[in-house]
Amino acid sequence: MASETKSMDEIVALCRRRGFIFQSSEIYGGINGFWDYGPLGTELKRNLKDAWWQDIVRGSAAGPTGDPLHVVGVDCTIIMNPRVWEASGHVGGFNDPMVDCRESKARYRADHLQVLGAVEPAARLYAYIANDDDQRERAQKALLKYERRDSLDAARHQMRAFTALSADERARCIGPDAKEPGTLTEPRQFNLMFKTNVGALEDPSSIAYLRPETAQGIFANFENVVNSTRVRVPFGIAQIGKAFRNEVTPRNFTFRSREFEQMEIEFFIHPSQAKEWYAWWRDQRFAWWQSIGLAGDNLQLREHDKDELAHYAKDGAGTSDIEYRFPFTAPGFGELEGVAHRSDFDLRQHAEHSGRRDKAKYFDAERNERYFPHVIEPSAGADRGTLALLCEAYTKDPSRASGVFMRFHPRMAPVKAGVFPLVNKDGLPEVAERLFADLRKRHVVEYDPKQTIGKRYARMDEAGTPFCFTVDADTLTNHSVTVRHRDSQAQERIAISAVAGWLDEQIRA
Ligand code: GAP
Repeated sequence: MASETKSMDEIVALCRRRGFIFQSSEIYGGINGFWDYGPLGTELKRNLKDAWWQDIVRGSAAGPTGDPLHVVGVDCTIIMNPRVWEASGHVGGFNDPMVDCRESKARYRADHLQVLGAVEPAARLYAYIANDDDQRERAQKALLKYERRDSLDAARHQMRAFTALSADERARCIGPDAKEPGTLTEPRQFNLMFKTNVGALEDPSSIAYLRPETAQGIFANFENVVNSTRVRVPFGIAQIGKAFRNEVTPRNFTFRSREFEQMEIEFFIHPSQAKEWYAWWRDQRFAWWQSIGLAGDNLQLREHDKDELAHYAKDGAGTSDIEYRFPFTAPGFGELEGVAHRSDFDLRQHAEHSGRRDKAKYFDAERNERYFPHVIEPSAGADRGTLALLCEAYTKDPSRASGVFMRFHPRMAPVKAGVFPLVNKDGLPEVAERLFADLRKRHVVEYDPKQTIGKRYARMDEAGTPFCFTVDADTLTNHSVTVRHRDSQAQERIAISAVAGWLDEQIRA
């Protein structure tokens, strides 16, 4: 089913109802841009991160030359010496242009604002947030009411970027949450890093930042890792961890949050090999997202145009985004992961700012050469990945008691199997409990003896549990159980002694 036909409101409601994702501190009215994962969501996100770690760090993949891939892990602090962020450019440059509304006190990313109105002196303009259908409709209604028209006139009305407006036009523009014109400020730069103070003194000397990306912990530890392990270029360092950005307009559920998790690899290579490693990582990462269930038209690989590239990537091998068509971006796509050739920018910056300069260069014994390795960086979001899995899995089916089921890939499914006694008598619960105890040693499985079998299937369908094993009267004589497949609802019998191995195989497939 194409993602654009799914309702984000329904997905959000299911996430809350079934304990995938809750608003953070909901009992106090929540806090914008922060989300908690409930029991099912925690398992889902953990499965995503575990699969990434397993396949990247512990896996046995071969690189482009057929040699085994070497990637090691680190786990760095969230608060680092603030000079890290000066070196990385985040203190000076990690800015979004931002617009404040003096009336509503809301703050918007200037590049997210669109305006609707006539291009003529004195015409009123109505601003809305791009991709927000409700806001666009509201702006359109307000414009038509003001101009006393029934519909838009293609020859008169235009949609434009807020950033393209002159000062005079801004003075005639009504903000998305405002009633009066002229309340939106000029776009201003806004640093996205959260600031805090380390130690008892709250003065400029104690200012520190919550990391806005996990990458810099890797770069700052490059020499430590080289000196303490046997890794040699080409090799990678991977990290999964929290990152924080004081996003101007957190929106679209967890897609743009202020606290989120990244899964980042910095892969260090000889500068002459940038092109082949870039292409290899780009294709590997795209195939990986497909392998965990984002396999249809909703996933795309988009190579950046030259004018989109970051300053350090301008002359590089390339940058691409792996994108998913979320219900709120459809028909467009939103970024899940970026794969970028970062050149030697970060290592050079840290060498310079830490005063280590040439000492920080890597010595390549095979080439008998000292150099700053170039970096290919596949940088993914664990929360965006989890959200894409949820959106992809959400499948309506009016023929089922639940009306909907979550079609997770078995490797990602939060609960791998349900175990039921058909009835709660005749020794069936004892057999089912034994099977449950056996399976839970290896997987997250649920035992459910309550209500009709139909209701139990419905609960498992909504949680996205791919298999349900039912112990019935025949189990006592022929030692087999039924297995019900979530997607086809087909049932078959398998020997109870074969269930654990069978389940392992299905999850690995
Ligand atoms: N080290 C490179 C880097 O941080 P990025 O494109 O800014 O690059 C990488 O972030 C990934 O982190 C994105 O592809 C996205 O999945 C995730 N991400 C970034 N900002 C996010 C936010 N505000 N909320 C949720 N995920 C975010």
